Amino acid sequence: MPRFQRPTGTQDILPEEQPYWNRVRTFAIQLAERAGFERIDVPIFEATELFARGIGTATDVVEKEMYTFEDKGGDSLTLRPEFTAGVVRAYIEHGMHVRPQPVKLYSIGPIFRYDRPQAGRYRQFHQFNLEILGTQDPAADLEIMLLVWDLYEGLGFRGLSFQLNSTGCPRCRPGYVEVLKAYYQQHIAEICDDCRRRLQTNPLRVLDCKAEQCQPIIAAAPAIGDHLCEECADHFATLREYLDLLGKPYTLNHRLVRGLDYYTKTVFEVWAAGIGAQAAVCGGGRYDGLAEILGGPPTPGVGVAAGIERIILVMKAQGVEVPTPPGPLAFIAHLGPEARREGVRLADELRRAGLSVWLAFGERGLKSQMREANKRRARYAVILGEDELARGVAAVRDMGAGEQVEVPLEGLVTWLRERASL
Ligand code: HAM
Repeated sequence: MPRFQRPTGTQDILPEEQPYWNRVRTFAIQLAERAGFERIDVPIFEATELFARGIGTATDVVEKEMYTFEDKGGDSLTLRPEFTAGVVRAYIEHGMHVRPQPVKLYSIGPIFRYDRPQAGRYRQFHQFNLEILGTQDPAADLEIMLLVWDLYEGLGFRGLSFQLNSTGCPRCRPGYVEVLKAYYQQHIAEICDDCRRRLQTNPLRVLDCKAEQCQPIIAAAPAIGDHLCEECADHFATLREYLDLLGKPYTLNHRLVRGLDYYTKTVFEVWAAGIGAQAAVCGGGRYDGLAEILGGPPTPGVGVAAGIERIILVMKAQGVEVPTPPGPLAFIAHLGPEARREGVRLADELRRAGLSVWLAFGERGLKSQMREANKRRARYAVILGEDELARGVAAVRDMGAGEQVEVPLEGLVTWLRERASL
């Protein structure tokens, strides 16, 4: 066993994995920018208080999952366990409320949660995150939902579905929470210890419990959908009307409460077949009170975050293929000290001309260099021997066809460019 291994719950993204990452990143960014989202990069660490306030002190994320440390100046900092709080902080800090509203922002990068690692669940993972700040319009909720849907569909996923719920607002939720608590009091002896605790600290989370004994109680629990105020009910009805209009399938799931406290009204996830228990490829919703909680002007918002590792797991499970990057256009082989010098010069010239080149290292026979050219999937081997050099030419072998021609050295850039259709 090697002396050092990567920390539990982290991953090395090896070169052979990168085509998946490139495909997802490029496509996600393209979709976001086409819909008018602008990129924002926020720090990887922020003041601990930002997440504690924003996400809520009684959530699993804040209670158990944050990587928190004191820096040398004595400040408590936390590696970001999500983007939303940081993005809203930046919106407030930079006075973005004076820009034309809404402001649409996307981010992509690493996220840290001290979670129990398993397939699809890591301690360092990556999110593609979207936020629309400054509008109450249910069409913004729809736009966020459609964008992630298009992402998954465009990547070739099958078996997608929306899970949808409304968690109400500070006007109607407290009433519902009382109804829920009263219902749970009747079943207090049957529920798990965690739920007994949750009833005190974060009652809505009982609906999210995975314990076997709690399942029948959750199934028969009063649904928040029956307790929404008029404004929340209207918002939810309009969003559903839009989804129906576009023929997007969704399942109303009154158990969907999500693990972050800032949500108001809409909450949703997209589930995909093929990744077992970690079925949520993304999650999001509306957070109309968050900006105020963080000390900013009242600013409604809605957003989503998609886990990139989970996207790639689904791609693999569902057999979605990504193109392997091509090998180098030219592999430069050389025989003898003079040819080696010419090889070094030529590699530089070709690369400056924008061509992809692999230069053979070391002193080896032609056979060994050709074997390497083959393994590296080069299109052409440019072979420099003493004899060729004396005549100012290179022998160029088409590695696919096996044919070989002589090309004058000074014409090599043009010759290769034509074949690379540059
Ligand atoms: P979240 O549901 O906590 O929401 O995370 C969003 C997504 O991140 C999940 O659906 C999953 O794909 C991925 N994810 C979460 N934890 C892990 C993990 N340990 N390993 C791998 N992937 C994971 C949020 O973070 C909200 N900030 C989303 C949001 C944006 N709401 C409004 N705007």
